[in-house]
Amino acid sequence: MSSTRIQIFDTTLRDGEQVPGCKLNTNQKLELAEALEALGVDVIEAGFPISSPGDFASVEEISKLIKNATVCGLSRSVEKDIEAAAAALKYAKHPRIHTGIGTSESHIRYKFKSTPEQILERAVAAVKYAKQFVEDVEFYAEDAGRTDNVYLARVIEAVVAAGATVLNIPDTTGYCLPEEYGAKIAYLRDNVKGIEKATLSTHCHNDLGLATANSIAGVQSGARQVECTINGIGERAGNTALEEVVMILKQHPHLNFETGINSRLLSRTSQLVSEKMGVLIQPNKAIVGSNAFAHSSGIHQDGVIKKRETYEIIDPMDVGVDHSSIVLTARSGRAALAFKARQIGFELTKNELDSVYEQFLSLADAKKEVQEDDLCQLLEKNSIHAA
Ligand code: KIV
Ligand code: ZN
Repeated sequence: MSSTRIQIFDTTLRDGEQVPGCKLNTNQKLELAEALEALGVDVIEAGFPISSPGDFASVEEISKLIKNATVCGLSRSVEKDIEAAAAALKYAKHPRIHTGIGTSESHIRYKFKSTPEQILERAVAAVKYAKQFVEDVEFYAEDAGRTDNVYLARVIEAVVAAGATVLNIPDTTGYCLPEEYGAKIAYLRDNVKGIEKATLSTHCHNDLGLATANSIAGVQSGARQVECTINGIGERAGNTALEEVVMILKQHPHLNFETGINSRLLSRTSQLVSEKMGVLIQPNKAIVGSNAFAHSSGIHQDGVIKKRETYEIIDPMDVGVDHSSIVLTARSGRAALAFKARQIGFELTKNELDSVYEQFLSLADAKKEVQEDDLCQLLEKNSIHAA
């Protein structure tokens, strides 16, 4: 049975760039957009054109540059926003306007001081207006995660009838549990008339650390697009991490989903985003953190040296990392010490290993991490020389 293709909608340049201190200029955005296209994303959300002249220019330049991916611009359900998005996307080969409005009770009552009926009318009017400029119109129901499913289904049905091609169901505040978010997508799939004419999309935030789990639950319940960012960068605790979704689907082939992402470019793209945005990647970040393929305890090191798969479910080469690493610490055992010594050219006999191991532990206690230079010095001090 052939796999179902999941569209990857990257919003690093829009939701990711909203993070304080991550603002990018047009040249930086162009460089990242090129890297995202090379990575194989299906949609690049390039920015929010009405928000500033700089962001308008970025969306316009990205539209000229990108050849295969769809280029998307964000707007509120406001005519001047939609006009700005359409103008910025004028040169795009595959333009998409992303428009929408808050649908939860708190958005309707406190943000808009409106009523559910008026919000529904504004949603429909926005989609119809956007359709005058482009064929591909994505609608977002902001705070869908906390929106009553019956009302959400009414809004979604109305915007599908108005011509929306993609239906974004954001868990804007990262509140939902995976079962709940999956059930929401399933409810829409099963109760919205005309839903087969459009694509359901997940857009999850990570306030409770559930963004990736929620996105996968959404896919398992019928969503066919995932909105995400490189390194999970985004407002507050961030968005769903692209690299996590891609590798979950790849490492679980029985789920029968695939993406168009070249996973070997994940590490490089992650580093480029980190560098351009000036945000460090936490060392223990899944897939792209510096410790994702590093082993430091004796038990794990021994297992990995004997067979990598004992403690690794991903081949590091699959995400563009050359090799797993053995880090020498005070928790390392003799197997790791001998392995590291061999890597730097020392073939230790059992006696040599026994004689330096205690000294190595004292050094590791003092230094936290024993580097190759330290190890080399230790061996030579003990009159052990490289082969
Ligand atoms: O999180 C959210 O609801 C959003 C929308 C603007 C799509 O980013
Ligand atoms: Zn968002």
